[in-house]
Amino acid sequence: MKIGILKETQKGEKRVAITPNIAKQLIENGFEVFVEENAGFTSSYNDSDYEKVGAKVETRAGVYKNSIILIKINPFDAEDLKLVDKSHILMSQLYHKSNTDLINAIAATGATAFSMDAVPRISRAQDMDVLSSQSNLAGYKAVILGAFEMTKIFPLMMTAAGTITPSKVLIYGVGVAGLQAIATAKRLGAVVYATDIRMETKEQAESLGAKFISVDNTGEEKAEGGYAKEASEDYARRQKEAVNKSLFEADLVITTAMVPGRKAPILITEEQVKQMKNGAVIIDLAAAQGGNCELSKMNETIIENGVKIIGTTIAPESVSTNASDLYAKNMLNFINHLTEKNEFKWELEEEITNGTLIVQNGNIRQN
Ligand code: NAI
Repeated sequence: MKIGILKETQKGEKRVAITPNIAKQLIENGFEVFVEENAGFTSSYNDSDYEKVGAKVETRAGVYKNSIILIKINPFDAEDLKLVDKSHILMSQLYHKSNTDLINAIAATGATAFSMDAVPRISRAQDMDVLSSQSNLAGYKAVILGAFEMTKIFPLMMTAAGTITPSKVLIYGVGVAGLQAIATAKRLGAVVYATDIRMETKEQAESLGAKFISVDNTGEEKAEGGYAKEASEDYARRQKEAVNKSLFEADLVITTAMVPGRKAPILITEEQVKQMKNGAVIIDLAAAQGGNCELSKMNETIIENGVKIIGTTIAPESVSTNASDLYAKNMLNFINHLTEKNEFKWELEEEITNGTLIVQNGNIRQN
């Protein structure tokens, strides 16, 4: 079976889907690997690193011509599809629920396509879960960005000139990104508070050293499939009451709260921002989904009342070496799961295959 690694063409993208180390493991498993020229360069991997492990460096057209499985991180686009035919099996994040034109275009080529963002959130799929591996890094980088933007340091510091008290960090949303943000802020010496609509996150947050702010939960916010449901207005009111004290004392606030398939919930209003400390920083990781702070704008810094509000995803591109390493390992595990002795098993009833196989031989599947 022949695997092709394509160079990402999306503006600003620096990652590569398969690293030399994972290419080596695929080759050891009996796959033949073709890699597009310079595909790994912006993740710190040179063409020669791929060649050393036995992969063949090719032009883009050469990769399409030689390979059956084609791997990317970002969705295949119109330019890619000109080179796709019915022999190809595409693997990338496709965001198929909001990308129907792309899915129709893939189907029109007769090809088969798996979507990596559709890996189900179940324990045995954790090592294939690209959303988790990438948001984990986003949580880390959000704290680093916050530290850079703040006018204070994180830890307690006793000096001859006086004692510096530790900064207070508040994290909204204790999912994958939120947990890593807690761990990172804690390691840097901050006092960390966290809150989440899913009560099962209390223990996880506390085990990393955060003080969990529980919101009086009447039960209507029960999670669905591990994810949060949209909160009621009543819950949002109770949440503000519970969190406001910590919010108004916070030096850094990181918001990560999202509800799949919906706009991100507004958790910090303009009114609340006005009561925050001058010099406080909000890093809004939900900005691409509309933002958790009412004033956030994606890729912009807004200053209101001395509070800096930064809307970003802290895209994993900013740590492209690690992000590529983890994405590639997810891909290796995914390919291993789908194949046996280099042949696809096509276990269509199996949950991970069923969830991720979006187009099969030109037919769009209903999943
Ligand atoms: P996400 O990015 O969709 O949301 C982030 C967090 O925001 C979630 O913890 C959610 O509960 C919280 N949130 C949503 N609305 C909120 C509100 N109004 N107020 C406060 N918090 C709010 O979630 P993510 O990080 O992708 O994962 C969510 C959960 O899915 C994980 O914590 C885990 O339980 C599960 N998961 C399971 C995996 C597996 O078993 N393979 C892999 C990854 C996640």
